[in-house]
Amino acid sequence: MSNGAQNPTPPAAPQPLYAQVGVVGAGTMGHGIAHTLLRHGYAVALADSAEPALEAARQNIGRGLARDVEKGRLDEARRTAALGRLRTTASLMELGGAGLIVEAVSENFDVKASVFRALQPHCLPETIFASNTSSISITRLAAATGRPQLFVGLHFFNPVPVMKLVEIVAGLDTAATTLEAAERLAVSLDKTPVHSSDMPGFVSNRVLMPMINEAIFAVMEGVAEPQAVDTVMKLGMNHPMGPLELADFIGLDVCLDIMRVLYDGFHDSKYRPCPLLEKMVAGGRLGRKSGRGFYSYSGAART
Ligand code: 3HC
Repeated sequence: MSNGAQNPTPPAAPQPLYAQVGVVGAGTMGHGIAHTLLRHGYAVALADSAEPALEAARQNIGRGLARDVEKGRLDEARRTAALGRLRTTASLMELGGAGLIVEAVSENFDVKASVFRALQPHCLPETIFASNTSSISITRLAAATGRPQLFVGLHFFNPVPVMKLVEIVAGLDTAATTLEAAERLAVSLDKTPVHSSDMPGFVSNRVLMPMINEAIFAVMEGVAEPQAVDTVMKLGMNHPMGPLELADFIGLDVCLDIMRVLYDGFHDSKYRPCPLLEKMVAGGRLGRKSGRGFYSYSGAART
């Protein structure tokens, strides 16, 4: 892909803070995080137990980096170098040399904890462990790792290469130096870090998910059709996506899981998941990823 003459000169290559960063999980968030790290000069070891997921991630990252050249965020030489710094592996042992590891596997405590337990013996004593969890307690995960001082929540937003926020979540024992390292990493990726303490939903999902849940209540109670609810929020409040479109984008199962974390964590009825959300998830209407949620999808397009 050539860098068109009309493109601006890409910014100078930043100095990476770590010789290598590990990313565990090659799904949407994991490959988005890996792409962002590569774009900003990091060498990335991306691990996933599923080879097809690694292959798909490599292709997505390749397309994303080509798009970066088209848009003038990288030049051709830096794109080639970035791809050359990506190593994919099915073995967590190969992340042993990383200075920082971001876990982005499925949103399940046991799965995440088992990743950190498996990493622990292979990593340097100073390696920072970060979780991209959207709702699981950082304190609880940290306790399972054997290095709670070096454990931090690093919550990215989808699509990771585009969204400017990184929510940095401190567990009970996270050291100040670990929080500073997480903040420096976010800044080096051209993101804005915001700190949150370890409470259910942190800040982002404590505010976002009840809004989405309330929008679903409005549909369930016949207040308005999904499209009308979304139009109100897009045109009236300047949200880039309406709450139901966004719920489809995030995944209705993910939204339900987070509402359950809020409800279980606070024991407050204001966080009860909407029955329509529960019903849609039970029926397999998970949003974009299943082809149907509040809207129907064919590939990337809404139909
Ligand atoms: N992956 C990667 N890049 C994407 C993308 C995707 N799924 N969707 C859009 N983009 C990129 C486009 O390529 C384009 O980049 P460019 O600079 O190379 O042109 C840029 O985003 C803008 O895209 P478009 O012009 O096609 O479309 P929009 O202007 O409508 O923006 C959007 C798309 C950025 C997705 C915008 O609709 C948006 O901001 N939506 C809200 C997203 C949001 O709220 N995300 C957070 C979800 S919550 C979360 O992640 C936390 C979790 O814990 C639940």
